[in-house]
Amino acid sequence: MKTDTDQTLVSMEHITRQFGGVRALNGVTLNITQGEIFGLIGPNGAGKTTLFNVLAGTIAPSAGRVEFDGKEIAGLPPHQILQRGVARTFQNIRLFNGLSALDNVMIGRHSRTHAGLWGAITRNAHTRQEESALRERAELLLEQVGIRRHSNTLASNLSYGDQRRLEIARALASEPKLLALDEPAAGMNLAERQTLRELIVQLREIHGLTVLVIEHDVKWMMALCDRIAVLDFGEMIALDVPEAIRVNPRVVTAYLGRRE
Ligand SMILES: Nc1ncnc2c1ncn2[C@@H]1O[C@H](COP(=O)(O)OP(=O)(O)O)[C@@H](O)[C@H]1O
Ligand SMILES: [Mg+2]
Repeated sequence: MKTDTDQTLVSMEHITRQFGGVRALNGVTLNITQGEIFGLIGPNGAGKTTLFNVLAGTIAPSAGRVEFDGKEIAGLPPHQILQRGVARTFQNIRLFNGLSALDNVMIGRHSRTHAGLWGAITRNAHTRQEESALRERAELLLEQVGIRRHSNTLASNLSYGDQRRLEIARALASEPKLLALDEPAAGMNLAERQTLRELIVQLREIHGLTVLVIEHDVKWMMALCDRIAVLDFGEMIALDVPEAIRVNPRVVTAYLGRRE
């Protein structure tokens, strides 16, 4: 839901990222408003994941500015950007496969706790106090994404869809302002996709989130997003509400037309 003040949470200006001869991003400028669900679509290789990586600090832009919550963050390391409130999931799921679902979420929480990740691993006396509160919170998050019954299941033993849900719970554990989801519905069937879409909307409400999402399923995106940006060969060719994106001639030519 958009806030009354309609504040800008993310401001990217003229972002360019070169990989050797490839311009993965070429002068992309966009704002994301507090509380909105902002979608990113475009053909494979268009630069969507690179934009995520620039925002999350996994890669630095070759040029351009990124402001989050009013402060410049371009070039900061990922853990500092996480602390400022940007949490993301990965196109290729990255869980600790040998740990339970619960432990995966508890580790996600440690950007916020005093003891930090090392304390979480060593479980020294200092962290034990924090631990029961952490556990309770982690269980609540598992409940919210619908997999609490799998708290003690190893991440590797969860179904693909549940692993994607666990990634979301883990991202939420850091109490982000912005939740960035890279192809969260990939590999899900129609029913799972539908449920996931409802879940994203619910989580926005519960946690007061702003959501940035990448997905190939354009219909799914149109039903979910407040606004959608379209990337093609590293350039943003459109940014608008879904109804306008659907009939935008450049988008239809570059992307939608190809798929129909
Ligand atoms: N770490 C990297 N090193 C070299 N080239 C990369 C790297 N990441 C992305 N690219 C290239 O940048 C372009 C955009 O990739 P990506 O952002 O992953 O696209 P999308 O997520 O839209 O499919 C592609 O040509 C890809 O091969
Ligand atoms: Mg990608």
